[in-house]
Amino acid sequence: MHTSPLKRREVLAGAAALLVRPPASLAAASLMIVTPGQTEGPFYPLSFPVDMDADLVRVKGQAARAMGQITHVSGRVLDRRGEIVRGATLEIWQCDANGIYNHPRAPGHARHDRGFQGYGRTEVDAAGRYAFRTIRPVAYPGRTPHIHFKVHAPGLGRLTTQLYIAGEPQNATDAVLNAVRDRAARESVIVRLEDASDVEPGALKGTFDVVLSL
Ligand SMILES: [Fe+2]
Repeated sequence: MHTSPLKRREVLAGAAALLVRPPASLAAASLMIVTPGQTEGPFYPLSFPVDMDADLVRVKGQAARAMGQITHVSGRVLDRRGEIVRGATLEIWQCDANGIYNHPRAPGHARHDRGFQGYGRTEVDAAGRYAFRTIRPVAYPGRTPHIHFKVHAPGLGRLTTQLYIAGEPQNATDAVLNAVRDRAARESVIVRLEDASDVEPGALKGTFDVVLSL
């Protein structure tokens, strides 16, 4: 059968396009690193504060705002194909600027910063995004700076993990962080903070996308 040279070129070009362009979902699947699960630790709240919104820097009824450097942490909740997870809820908790958790079993609890909420909860928006206003986490004895996260996707799954700050010297020796043996997974929970003066004076911001094993 005779095929014109032009037609054959078109057929070959079409075949090549199929080879180099996998379906979008397959391409994404090979890119997403599932966020590793990490211990909840001992300081998840026993009872939730009256004020538990996504702004941990201001506590209702407290005149002073939290001590520490204001830090905006935001991102998306995704599945392993890179699709947004609708309806996901996120909780965070962390110690105050002096390394004290608002938890009855926390060392120094009586001295915790009353202006720091310590725990916050939010839901992703229609675009799968969340945002918290909190403080830059600080080190406390035995731990590099970190923020605890719990992510709950109703009917789909949940994840407990921790976020770390790029450039912190104690990251290299932190037992919890280094229990994540896979290097790419470990790096996926280390967030680079940058200046956020455009958002508010003296603040920092960082992006943390949570990828669920869905
Ligand atoms: Fe902790």
